[in-house]
Amino acid sequence: MNLPPAAAERLRSAVLDGLLDDPKRLPSAYLYDTTGSALFEAICELPEYYLTRAETEILQRHAPEMARRIGSGALLIEPGCGSGEKACTLLQHLPEPAGFVPIEISPSALDGARRLVRERFPQLPVHPLQADFTASFSIPDAPPASRPVFFFPGSTLGNFDPAQALTLLRRWRALGRQALVGVDLRKDPATLLAAYDDARGVTAAFNLNLLDRINREFGADFDPQSFAHEAIWNESEGRIEMHLRSRRAQTVRLDGRRLAFRAGESIHTENSYKYTVDGFAELAARAGWQVAAHWTDSQARFGVQLLSA
Ligand code: AVI
Repeated sequence: MNLPPAAAERLRSAVLDGLLDDPKRLPSAYLYDTTGSALFEAICELPEYYLTRAETEILQRHAPEMARRIGSGALLIEPGCGSGEKACTLLQHLPEPAGFVPIEISPSALDGARRLVRERFPQLPVHPLQADFTASFSIPDAPPASRPVFFFPGSTLGNFDPAQALTLLRRWRALGRQALVGVDLRKDPATLLAAYDDARGVTAAFNLNLLDRINREFGADFDPQSFAHEAIWNESEGRIEMHLRSRRAQTVRLDGRRLAFRAGESIHTENSYKYTVDGFAELAARAGWQVAAHWTDSQARFGVQLLSA
């Protein structure tokens, strides 16, 4: 994952700050180096990780209705577009879209999405934007009469705490009048925990890869075997937390320091918030949106909401 130098530097300082903090934490964006991104792809295929399948079911079944409600002249903007595959499912049905704006911080991922959409929709104007979508940005080359419509599938909003999610939704509200957002729904903790601690250990490898990445990029000497992957359901916050828990008391060399870990001490590596349909509508309302329509999969595990201004 080739990040622009300024973004790489910001991520680097967030890693150091987080490990020197108490309790220790790491930015979840750091999970996605090349190995981490490949492991995340593998997670999406796991029997326990229902999120991707549930959302795909919703998009495949309801994209025609979503497209009808969005209407013609939409400029589809996808922050953190990844491969661009999900946008294609929607674009296929959108009547006379004005264009597609994929946003990615990684130039190679952005180029992949641009190529895919160009190949599938040769007539569609594509305006790639290389940017960190968590910072503010302006929409490039938008034709004057187009209507910006944000597309944020994949439950990525769940990886932001409610205050950060509110900031994103407000920013998009300032730029557009519709948004289609996917969020994972609250359900029994056993199902949630299995999705984040699968039997094959792929999620564990995804989480532990953080330590390999720190060793490589900071010349640190973490021993990944002496940390355990842990997924916790935090009922009061409504979120799954991922942690790396030290199996014993140990010290690790990092950036010219010795970092001490107590036995059982954890590094908090990710939050994944789970919403109720009403809870999400309330959050959206605080950002100036109303839920115009929402769709769930056949088992009501995942929700896609169409927000309108
Ligand atoms: C990218 N994001 C929506 C995933 C999630 O479910 O929160 C990341 C992930 N973490 C562990 N498994 C998947």
